[in-house]
Amino acid sequence: MADEKEKVVLAYSGGLDTSICIKWLQEHYGFEVYAVVGDLGQEHEDFEAMKAKALASGATQCLIVDMREDFANEYLSCALAANAMYENKYPLVSALSRPLIVKHLVNVAHQVGAHTIAHGCTGKGNDQVRFESSIMILDPTLNIVAPAREWDFKTREEEMDWASAHGVPVPTTKSSPYSIDDNLWGRAIECGVLEDPWNEPPDDIYTMTVDPEAAPEEPFYVEVDFKNGIPCSLDGKAMSYLDIILKMNELAGSVGFGRLDMIENRLVGVKSRECYEVPGAMALIVAHKALEDLCLERGVLHYKLGIEQSWADLVYNGLWFSPLKEALDAFIASTQNYLSGTVRLKFYKGCCTVVGLRSPYSLYSMDLATYGEGDQFDRDAAKGFIDLHSLSCKVWAENRLKMGVQSASFKPAEKTVDEFGAE
Ligand code: ARG
Repeated sequence: MADEKEKVVLAYSGGLDTSICIKWLQEHYGFEVYAVVGDLGQEHEDFEAMKAKALASGATQCLIVDMREDFANEYLSCALAANAMYENKYPLVSALSRPLIVKHLVNVAHQVGAHTIAHGCTGKGNDQVRFESSIMILDPTLNIVAPAREWDFKTREEEMDWASAHGVPVPTTKSSPYSIDDNLWGRAIECGVLEDPWNEPPDDIYTMTVDPEAAPEEPFYVEVDFKNGIPCSLDGKAMSYLDIILKMNELAGSVGFGRLDMIENRLVGVKSRECYEVPGAMALIVAHKALEDLCLERGVLHYKLGIEQSWADLVYNGLWFSPLKEALDAFIASTQNYLSGTVRLKFYKGCCTVVGLRSPYSLYSMDLATYGEGDQFDRDAAKGFIDLHSLSCKVWAENRLKMGVQSASFKPAEKTVDEFGAE
């Protein structure tokens, strides 16, 4: 037993960085490396080739885990219920995937008897935080190693040289000038010319969406049915949530809906320029929000907006498994209980518009809302309501008037009535 090697479980992506990690963990730590790859619905990924590459780089085993159903049902369902968008824009594509990957890393570590988990994130991003916080919460006894935070390669060429010298397969095709992370919920694109916020994103960064200017001239419509907050069918055809997400990516992508370009505040204190394409996620959030507008009681709806922002911040900041996130989930879940109905979406040239809403749990009352025939709204109640609603401020205003103090927000008009009349 004395010469049995310590084991490490590595989050592997098939890229140059994580391939170097395998060798690094062997050479610098003497680890036996178990690589774990998550299939989260990435485009253009050849998982068999990835496995071969991990083994060629020196891994003892490479496990490809299909996480798509779990990702949709346990993660993207919560994200949709929370209408989750960091800084009101970014639907958390990468942030949502990390805790699920970590769940599997920890499982594998327990199964193979590893006491250490490794990841290939650099020291500058959010993903290192998400990996490590999640590991610490799921199993605080595990050790963490982050080789890409330790090595000091200045350029990709230096990395390639090290890889070649250590028998790690290096990419033969010219690699993308961008850093990309993608899954079912969308695609994040960073680096290259995008680092200068003055540069308009070149068209070659996009793969899920067409240029809205080149989208078809004819609009089309899609009806999404929701049951308890989760989409359950498209145009009347029952489908799994996973399949609905896939189909929505295709439909919304075909009109170029869901492109984002933003300056984002990373947890580590850096502002970064981020481009995303999130066609399916954004279309579903638009539809889901609209159904909530129809069905949630005003107090719940307004309170939920604040909860949504806290939820998005927590998940962005890597605290998916925190007790606060769990508590917020409980609040959010209770708001989704009767959120069932149909949303009609119109897609046209970069736009996704809600053009129809109906639900058996709709709180919209035609009798109360109409300005036409059959109006049931009690206008006489309005007068007393306004008197009491304004009373405390009115008392305050009377006091200030008596004291001769003018409210800062009230400025006398610069022109007299006569001057206006003379114009
Ligand atoms: N800025 C986004 C986030 O923090 C995207 C990160 C993408 N990761 C990557 N390795 N390219 O969630």
